[in-house]
Amino acid sequence: MSLIKGFHHLTAGVSGAQEDIDFYVKLLGQSLVKKTVLLDGDEPIYHLYYGNANGDAGTLVTSFPFRQRGVKARPGSGQIRVINYSVPRDSLDFWQARFAARKLPFETVSTRFGEQRLRFQHPCGIEFDLVATERDTRPACVASDIPEQFAIRGVHSITLSLREVAESIIFMKEALDFRYVGEEGPYHRFEIAGGGPGTVVEFQHEPDRLQGSSIYGEGTIHHVAFAVDNVDQQMVLKDRLMSMGHIDTSESVHRNYFRSMYFKMPGGVMFEATTTDIGFLIDEPREALGAEFQLPPWLKERKDELLGRLEPIAV
Ligand SMILES: [Fe+2]
Repeated sequence: MSLIKGFHHLTAGVSGAQEDIDFYVKLLGQSLVKKTVLLDGDEPIYHLYYGNANGDAGTLVTSFPFRQRGVKARPGSGQIRVINYSVPRDSLDFWQARFAARKLPFETVSTRFGEQRLRFQHPCGIEFDLVATERDTRPACVASDIPEQFAIRGVHSITLSLREVAESIIFMKEALDFRYVGEEGPYHRFEIAGGGPGTVVEFQHEPDRLQGSSIYGEGTIHHVAFAVDNVDQQMVLKDRLMSMGHIDTSESVHRNYFRSMYFKMPGGVMFEATTTDIGFLIDEPREALGAEFQLPPWLKERKDELLGRLEPIAV
């Protein structure tokens, strides 16, 4: 058994909070499952979590709306370039019509590793693909105006932009236990655990793409978090990374809903190993996930002050 079970979440720096909600909830039919704040730094920035209605690991994409602070990140290599959501086969026509009705640009459907995919963009410029697959058995993300037969199932895969791939291929296999699935043009594909949607990492070899920034800021995906069972498993992974010479790993950081251990892969992309043994039900029940602004115990007294410094949002 691999330590990593698949994706937990992806985290991106976006522009405005309201346009981010409009994109994930109103356009893509995701549920806002947690409204809280970024726990690094003194100035409040929202931390918005989107996924299926249960907030299951592997469906989660989270946003820091950084326009408020005026910090822009630079897209480039050494970053996650594309978030790929999985949708059922024969659903891309529905999504093209939906984007067209809203006058949103999208590209023509392309095929990679035998799967059709539709490229579009978040308002902050981050690239997304909808990948049509029969292999995703996870429940649909429920939305009132998206029929279940076309609805997103969760994160299918991520696409990393890398200037060089050799060391990173070794790292995925030997440090993280991913299996190498194959290559197609500049793409290399890996999967872990049971394989299939929710476990797939792709490299896009782009030797001429300039290095992107690592900061929190508008317009880039900051990191990917992989699911591990608990802190014990997280520390087994940390020890393994350290023993191989990958000593730039973080401690287990308290993130209220989980514990996070951060590490950089050789191509420069920030990875995280996240525990799944706490979860989002510690401060609100399943049926009310995302309804109220939530803060960790150590910030609760400052709720009014912090909210007053954040832009108003409505779902
Ligand atoms: Fe994270």
